[in-house]
Amino acid sequence: MDWLDDRFASGRARVRGDIEIGRNGWGSAGIQGATVRLLAGVRGALAASEIARYAAVGFGGILVGIAAYARFIEPSWLEVRRLSIDVPGLPPSLDGLVIAQLSDLHLDRGALGDGPVLRAIRACNAARPDVVVLTGDYLAVREATDVLEQVLARLDIRPVYAVFGNHDYRYGPRHRRALERCFAGLGIDLLDNRAVAFRRNGATLWFVGVGDGYTSHDRLAEALRLIPPGERPRILLTHYPDLLLDLSEGEFDLALAGHSHGAQIHLPVLSDIALARSATRFASGLFVVRGIPLYVNRGLGTSGQRVRLLARPELTLLSLRHPRTEGVCRDGKEQH
Ligand SMILES: [Fe+2]
Repeated sequence: MDWLDDRFASGRARVRGDIEIGRNGWGSAGIQGATVRLLAGVRGALAASEIARYAAVGFGGILVGIAAYARFIEPSWLEVRRLSIDVPGLPPSLDGLVIAQLSDLHLDRGALGDGPVLRAIRACNAARPDVVVLTGDYLAVREATDVLEQVLARLDIRPVYAVFGNHDYRYGPRHRRALERCFAGLGIDLLDNRAVAFRRNGATLWFVGVGDGYTSHDRLAEALRLIPPGERPRILLTHYPDLLLDLSEGEFDLALAGHSHGAQIHLPVLSDIALARSATRFASGLFVVRGIPLYVNRGLGTSGQRVRLLARPELTLLSLRHPRTEGVCRDGKEQH
């Protein structure tokens, strides 16, 4: 605040000069005092208005900086999030199994540039997980199925299990069939109300994929009929996390979801508005719903405005643990 002290100091110097003028020219102590008070008041008022102006300019600059960060930096700034999670009933031979989750790609024709989706795929390939899951919302525009095909062709891990999100029902059945052909051509297993057994080291883990619950395409009973009675553990793949609110207690051993994009602008009030618009109460991270651990991924793309603030695009690498200690969840983050 040295500049401010200087301003006041120079103001006082000028006021002292006015007193001298009063002595020499007007000769009245009353007039001198009034002049001093008047000029000091005027200068004080000017200083206050200038301080307010500087503050407004500074505040405006900060807002512009935040807006530029949210528009140009954070939407491309991938976070690789590593979690270890205890899964009740996980066979000891599957201890340490890694599932990579990618969600909400929202690809458009510009996605073949160096964006968060391709970065996530490169990071996923480098991490060599045992399974990859895709939890819906693949395209931002109808005409980009070929872009999705080119992007997912770079994913060199198998198996890959996928479910549809609400945006995948937006363009009608013909578009969905194009997505199905794309997945089939790439050897990606679409679990559209279907379950599949993942076998490793003599143990079995069931992946159950449901259609999007937000648009009422979920038929869980249909998927569960494919699992022999009593077989566990079961991992639910659902785009819409709130589907878990309708499940029975402990019906699954883990659930993975997307949909909310971490609210995209993760600030008080704005976040609540975004979640309400998406009809969800789960922004991102780990929850326990109906006794089921639920992980909600923030996704890689955006919907609506291409902005993210405090909700970076995310690749999740979940390491499943045979529970030795109840309720343990370890978290690690990397920057890309
Ligand atoms: Fe989405």
